[in-house]
Amino acid sequence: MVGASPQDFPDSHAAASRSGSGTTSSVGEKAGAQSGKVVVVTGGSGGIGAEICRQFAQAGASVAFTYRNGREAAARLHAGLPGSGHWARQLAIDDSASLKALAAEVESHYGRCDVLVNCAGMTRFVPHADLDALDDQLIDDIFRVNWRGAFAAVRAFRPLLERGGEGLVVNISSIAGVTGMGSNVAYCASKAALDCMTKSLARALAPAIRVVSVSPGLVDTDFVKALDQTWRDEQAARTPLRRLATPDEVGAAVLAVASVLKYSNGCIIAVDGGRPLT
Ligand SMILES: NC(=O)c1ccc[n+]([C@@H]2O[C@H](COP(=O)([O-])OP(=O)(O)OC[C@H]3O[C@@H](n4cnc5c(N)ncnc54)[C@H](OP(=O)(O)O)[C@@H]3O)[C@@H](O)[C@H]2O)c1
Repeated sequence: MVGASPQDFPDSHAAASRSGSGTTSSVGEKAGAQSGKVVVVTGGSGGIGAEICRQFAQAGASVAFTYRNGREAAARLHAGLPGSGHWARQLAIDDSASLKALAAEVESHYGRCDVLVNCAGMTRFVPHADLDALDDQLIDDIFRVNWRGAFAAVRAFRPLLERGGEGLVVNISSIAGVTGMGSNVAYCASKAALDCMTKSLARALAPAIRVVSVSPGLVDTDFVKALDQTWRDEQAARTPLRRLATPDEVGAAVLAVASVLKYSNGCIIAVDGGRPLT
């Protein structure tokens, strides 16, 4: 792992009871229902990833998440996760050797991995008609991170995910992969390719590992909140539910795939308020 050192983000210790009684997760699971499970979230420090980490931690899982540049955000998230046994590591998702090293560290530390959430992703706004602005470097960066990174993560974690016989990979894609509308043409294509990977691997890795895409519409993360208000309002107005998704709704969808949607495999679960319908 690039720059990772175990003492950077040591294991968290019982900040809160992981088997706490009475509380439920947002999908109605009793706190502790994911107890004993180990969940790896790439890009866990981001707006959506952080909520996925929180919801699994709330449900009792041990969460190992990665960040790239956002060390402070990662430290804040790590410190605030309910339960214990969580850790964070810096990782460049396009460094496949680091992913192998991460899988080896998860194996030696936890001895298992039940869920891998591929949430790390990147993009930049480029008007679709401005073909020159979408240069080769940006196209390669987007596919290297959004597609190759997710594939390499599955490749690295496959032996661990297979071991328990009920492994799960959740790829965080986007409705941009279906609508062709999004931050730029390459981003949309990378998410379509990610959904295609979901289907191929769901067939190839079954029955020991399920693979599912969770595909959000525009999510009201801090990054999106900082964008032009008029544009955000327009996006909400064009959505049948008349609002954007919240990060916790995406986290709840991922937790639902792990906890209740156990027969779902190779599918794309939309969390988009019906946006593609308009
Ligand atoms: N926000 C939306 O409206 C929306 C809608 C649909 C789908 N999505 C998808 O949801 C996922 C998360 O999005 P988000 O809004 O939470 O974005 P975000 O806040 O920018 O988080 C992205 C995460 O990926 C990590 N990352 C980026 N490049 C990386 C690299 N080369 N190597 C390793 N890690 C890297 C970031 O790490 P650092 O921050 O530490 O650098 C961060 O943890 C992405 O795949 C995105 O495409 C987002």
